[in-house]
Amino acid sequence: MSETKFVAINEILSGNYTDKHISVRGWIYRTRSSGNIVFINLRDATGILQATVKRDNLSDEMFEEAKKTLIESSIIVKGTIAEDKRAPGGYELRVDTFQVLQSAEPFPIVEDQSPEFLLDQRHLWLRSQKLNAVLKIRSTIVGAIHQFFRDHDYIEFDAPVLQPNQCEGGATLFEVKYYDNKTYLSQSWQLYAEAAVFSLEKVYNMGPTFRAEKSKTSRHLSEFWMAEMEAAWVKLPKLTEIAKKEVQFILKQVVEKNSPELQVLDQDVEKLKHIAESEFPTITYDKALSILKENANMKVPWGKDLRTIEENKLMEYFETPVVVTNYPLEIMAFYKPEDPKKPKTALCFDMIAPSGYGEIIGGSQRSEDIDYMKKRLRETGEDEENYEWYFDLRRYGSVPHSGYGLGVERVVAWICNLDNIKDAIPFPRTMNRFQP
Ligand code: 4AD
Ligand code: MG
Repeated sequence: MSETKFVAINEILSGNYTDKHISVRGWIYRTRSSGNIVFINLRDATGILQATVKRDNLSDEMFEEAKKTLIESSIIVKGTIAEDKRAPGGYELRVDTFQVLQSAEPFPIVEDQSPEFLLDQRHLWLRSQKLNAVLKIRSTIVGAIHQFFRDHDYIEFDAPVLQPNQCEGGATLFEVKYYDNKTYLSQSWQLYAEAAVFSLEKVYNMGPTFRAEKSKTSRHLSEFWMAEMEAAWVKLPKLTEIAKKEVQFILKQVVEKNSPELQVLDQDVEKLKHIAESEFPTITYDKALSILKENANMKVPWGKDLRTIEENKLMEYFETPVVVTNYPLEIMAFYKPEDPKKPKTALCFDMIAPSGYGEIIGGSQRSEDIDYMKKRLRETGEDEENYEWYFDLRRYGSVPHSGYGLGVERVVAWICNLDNIKDAIPFPRTMNRFQP
């Protein structure tokens, strides 16, 4: 006997199976019955199809089964596809065979439940149309990042997850017992990538990154994915160009591949397309402060980092992401060098997304001055001895080099129009949550 061929719902909805007799499998998304008819909305990974079960078209036993089977049960149905304007998607399956694979218990998720409840039920909520759409877009974004760097001849390079040093400040390190020692979960791939560029010149990676963020915000996760690049011979202006091209490439890929999902998420496809084709401006930190002061009467004292409310206000004056360079040196990580042309500022940048999604990329040129970096580490109470291996990179053939990290969930949240970054990752970890 030949194996049954199952047709994917999106293929049915694209009109290729009208009047054909086919088999479909999936899960009951919604069901309602009246008298001698049951309407089942069946979902698979690709879409939702109305399956119409009429008593006359199948055995009594099957009809009774169809009538009583609860949502989220797994089923196989057979029947003929017909065009029907009233059905979601414009097609229905007229069922003549109904088979239950597993009859579900009453599903715990019903409408209008709190975000916390949905997070408790995350393993089941992954089936929602919202998360189905987000996860498809996330996959496109991840794929686009790999493709972007590979198309530009970057080598994928892996760093350890267990690291003896901090990279972005000790305050957010997760400490791990390591036999009789202690180590930390990676805050960034960067320091190891800097070792790699003296061999491979252009490297990139995307991997889990850990920060013990002690504040609850809609932008911070304790475990997130960062896509980082590092390149020899590259200085700040070129670096910002690469970052802009990467984000434009990501947007183009999503617009091309995921417009149905963007619609599910109420995201404006045309707006994203327009952004993908626009130039992203570059301004300095000083310019950002003057925009805030002149347009919004917001006075940020020079030397303070931009807070969320200031970033959001600034972005009201732009419709694309903006690159902000030359933040005050003092508030920057130890490896960022001073800009000789703009003293007291660093050769660094952040890319800020529009619509209140905040910083999506942070990057910089890397200092080549061992004494300067030691001084900065000492100021923050770090033991400079632990960084001797890193300083070696400046002792043996150092060259100008730069890199940046893109927060994958920040980009997913922005592109998917999400209220909270927690919905940009399948199983979010935050200060208050590490389950399920
Ligand atoms: O700006 P950050 O801290 O930069 C670095 O870690 C550099 N070492 C990267 C590099 O140059 N290779 O982090 C980079 C990006 C931020 O712009 C933000 O998008 C994201 O990572 N990010 C977070 N995303 C979610 N939750 C958090 N707690 C995040 N912290 C940073
Ligand atoms: Mg940053």
